[in-house]
Amino acid sequence: MSDILRRGRLELVPDKEIMEYTTSLKADRWIFDADILVDFAHTVMLTEQGIIKRSASESILKGLMQIRDEGIDQLDNSYEDIHIALEARLIELVGEDIGGRMHSGRSRNDEVATCIRLRLREELLGIMEDLLHLRAVLLDIADKNRDTIMPGFTHLQHAQPTTMGHHMMAHQQAFGRDFERVMDCFARVNRSPLGAAAFASTGFAINRERTRELLGFNEIIENSMDAVSSRDFLIETASVIACIMVNLTRIAEELVLWSSKEFSFIELSDQYASTSSIMPQKKNPDTAELLRGKSGVATGNLMALLTICKGLPLSYNRDLQEATPLIWNSIQTCRTSLRITAGMLASMKINENVLAEQSTTGFTTATELADTLVRECDIPFRTAHQIVGQLARMEGVPTFADIERVGKDILGESLIERGLSEQMLKEALDPMLNVKRRNTTGGPNPDEISNSIMRIKKQLSAEEEKVTNIRQSIDRALNNLMQTVDKYTGN
Ligand code: ARG
Repeated sequence: MSDILRRGRLELVPDKEIMEYTTSLKADRWIFDADILVDFAHTVMLTEQGIIKRSASESILKGLMQIRDEGIDQLDNSYEDIHIALEARLIELVGEDIGGRMHSGRSRNDEVATCIRLRLREELLGIMEDLLHLRAVLLDIADKNRDTIMPGFTHLQHAQPTTMGHHMMAHQQAFGRDFERVMDCFARVNRSPLGAAAFASTGFAINRERTRELLGFNEIIENSMDAVSSRDFLIETASVIACIMVNLTRIAEELVLWSSKEFSFIELSDQYASTSSIMPQKKNPDTAELLRGKSGVATGNLMALLTICKGLPLSYNRDLQEATPLIWNSIQTCRTSLRITAGMLASMKINENVLAEQSTTGFTTATELADTLVRECDIPFRTAHQIVGQLARMEGVPTFADIERVGKDILGESLIERGLSEQMLKEALDPMLNVKRRNTTGGPNPDEISNSIMRIKKQLSAEEEKVTNIRQSIDRALNNLMQTVDKYTGN
């Protein structure tokens, strides 16, 4: 048997079904590039530490370069994972006497954990960028719709007038918190488990700090048992993603509702719609529905990760292999969902007339009318609430006479004598004035929205700069690693 992993200890070869059951090669596509980088860094460190000879590391690094150029498809797919398939190819290229030295002082356990963290940190930076883009799109729509009056809802019942700008800013704010969560999570992902070996570290005089530096990690995960066996960083990532997806579904749900005939608030671009195979008139918001549905997958991945990791004794257990593909699936779902949502929002048509018309249906100005009675007639809010509540039972918008009559019934006094005028009533019933009066921080007043947009724009640039700085520091480390590799291989 030529299998470099099994030939020593094992006699029988797994059959096709067992192999397919146990291999991680399919999901390992995600970590192929990362694995080469980890091999580069480990080999450089082993050489610097005098554990392998410079001449050997030259061949190993050259071999790794060739493997990188050949790509994952050239690897022998009968191996149980990328790490061993890659090492087997290396040995095929440079011989066992040299290639067989690369894995000194290392195990696939610390190797795989390092690879996952390397790729994941890249994806987290990607998610942060996708979030920044989505937030910029929401800001842009908000900016254009500071004066687009619409009904605001609670319990999905018409509640008070607001604006599309205010509404979009609300979603933006939620994604701002998601951004912070991804950034926090990134700090815990960007740590190096390399050097932990199987779990008990190694007797070779390796330098964990050096591989950390070469791979651009922030710090090392000190305890070697914890380093190989913990996947809480996957649980954390999956939970942050589940949160993002849930926030996205709130938009998805609104897009589905708003594009229905009953609402007609918006029309989605045809790109994001489907039609029916039988009902030729249909324009269905399928992309938004799928977004809503895909969140279930992200939530499921979080549950599966928690369940896989629960009760695992220290240290490495092969169960952990089942955890990794879930995170790639969550990553992919989340990143495409963020981009699709941004596209769907940026291209939708907002039906301003319908929104304006609907902004007062269901007597949405009732709160402002009650507030007016409090302000102008100096009555308690609870009493005003009762007066307007009684008025709301009637058909249509109350007239000045209606208010005076109900006011007298409840209060036993004339609201007019207490200072109410027809002009005040008119203003209270005007949806735009309702919105303008709500000018406290975070309210829908268009000037307040402008201020808020300005503040968030600054925040977005600061956050963009943070992501760029992180990317640059990782790039610097990896460039330095590649320069070192080039130096060793004489490139
Ligand atoms: N494919 C494995 C995983 O994803 C790599 C580590 C395997 N280690 C082992 N001792 N079998 O976890």
